[in-house]
Amino acid sequence: MKTGIIGSGAMGSGIAQVLASAGHEVVIFDSNPAALSKSESSLKSSFEKLTEKGKLTSEQSLQYFSNIKYADNIEGLKEAELVIEAIVEDLGVKQQVFKNIEAMVSADCIIATNTSSLSIASIAAACTKPERVIGIHFFNPAPLMALVEIIPAVQTRNGLTEEVKAWVSSWGKLPVITKDTPGFIVNRVARPFYSEAIRLYEEGVADCATIDAAMTTIGGFKMGPFTLMDFIGHDVNYRVTESVFSSFFYDPRFKPSLSQKRLFEAGYLGRKTGRGFYNYAEGTEQIKPNEDKTLQQKIANRILVMLINEAADALFLNIASREDLETAMTKGVNYPKGLMAWGEEIGWKNILNQLDELYHYYHEDRYRASPWIRNQVK
Ligand SMILES: NC(=O)c1ccc[n+]([C@@H]2O[C@H](COP(=O)([O-])OP(=O)(O)OC[C@H]3O[C@@H](n4cnc5c(N)ncnc54)[C@H](O)[C@@H]3O)[C@@H](O)[C@H]2O)c1
Repeated sequence: MKTGIIGSGAMGSGIAQVLASAGHEVVIFDSNPAALSKSESSLKSSFEKLTEKGKLTSEQSLQYFSNIKYADNIEGLKEAELVIEAIVEDLGVKQQVFKNIEAMVSADCIIATNTSSLSIASIAAACTKPERVIGIHFFNPAPLMALVEIIPAVQTRNGLTEEVKAWVSSWGKLPVITKDTPGFIVNRVARPFYSEAIRLYEEGVADCATIDAAMTTIGGFKMGPFTLMDFIGHDVNYRVTESVFSSFFYDPRFKPSLSQKRLFEAGYLGRKTGRGFYNYAEGTEQIKPNEDKTLQQKIANRILVMLINEAADALFLNIASREDLETAMTKGVNYPKGLMAWGEEIGWKNILNQLDELYHYYHEDRYRASPWIRNQVK
């Protein structure tokens, strides 16, 4: 297939690697020539590393690398049968690019966006043939992360979702289908992992190290929420939270936290700036977690029931199938178990009791249990 990618940043380059490795011809266009040459050298070194590790033969590596061409003009994409846009996360800029690309490509070319937070409907609305527009959301780094969320817009033509699903599988990825709602699956269902952890910290229930320890040792997560937020960066993580919150018409369940906003405002963005919830400066003594297992269990339970509640509510609202919800959370963010299976294991009655207890204590809508769980208990 002849494919085109717009934007040669982290995501565009990663997606190019995926497509080229699946044997497709790829043309990448970027409006910034420096970004384009950076992408070319980073792709070259990625393929070389895969050869050194023995994952590719040198013939394969050369072949895949030569499948990728670089264009400093959008016209370079005019032969493409599938275009994936991965430029800056700005609706106005994306809409203009969709207008430009639609004027360039054939009438049956599929145009996809890799947006994380904008609605696919609003991007498709810029096109004269919006029925050919769809969301294909990769995770970072795209060559390593198996999950791909496929998001049909209200305008997307019937059948396209299934066609795209088959393509994504043929690229060696795991596709899930989700509704065009804020955060799609992963960025919606994962919110409580961060927000409930910060809430516990703000209330003084425990410090970051203890909450992280609870989630890694009792919860079995690879990284605790504070370590993970510092790793992602508070600029990125806070913005996603804020965008999901406002896109849900300010549903209190998705309310961002002031502690994280302050870190963001201060430029304490996490690892990349040397300071976030933790201080990474050399010689700084790291906080030791409180090893009280009862406390850690209480913390892990509370974050976990909030996560399970979110997954159950996504199922209740038909955001995705149960199977896709499980795949999304285990393959997109490496959760140790699918949240619905986890709910089953803990028991829905137990989960409902914990949620209702929080709800009665706080009188906050944030803690409302999903009707799906209530029905299950009934
Ligand atoms: N970084 C992530 O973790 C991640 C994960 C999933 C999805 N996304 C989404 O993917 C998209 C790209 O993210 P990224 O992290 O690769 O960004 P990035 O900043 O690394 O790269 C964006 C590239 O787009 C180019 N660009 C900007 N405007 C352009 C235009 N009008 N025409 C052509 N090129 C243009 C820039 O020069 C830059 O090279 C965003 O929509 C983002 O939300 C990002």
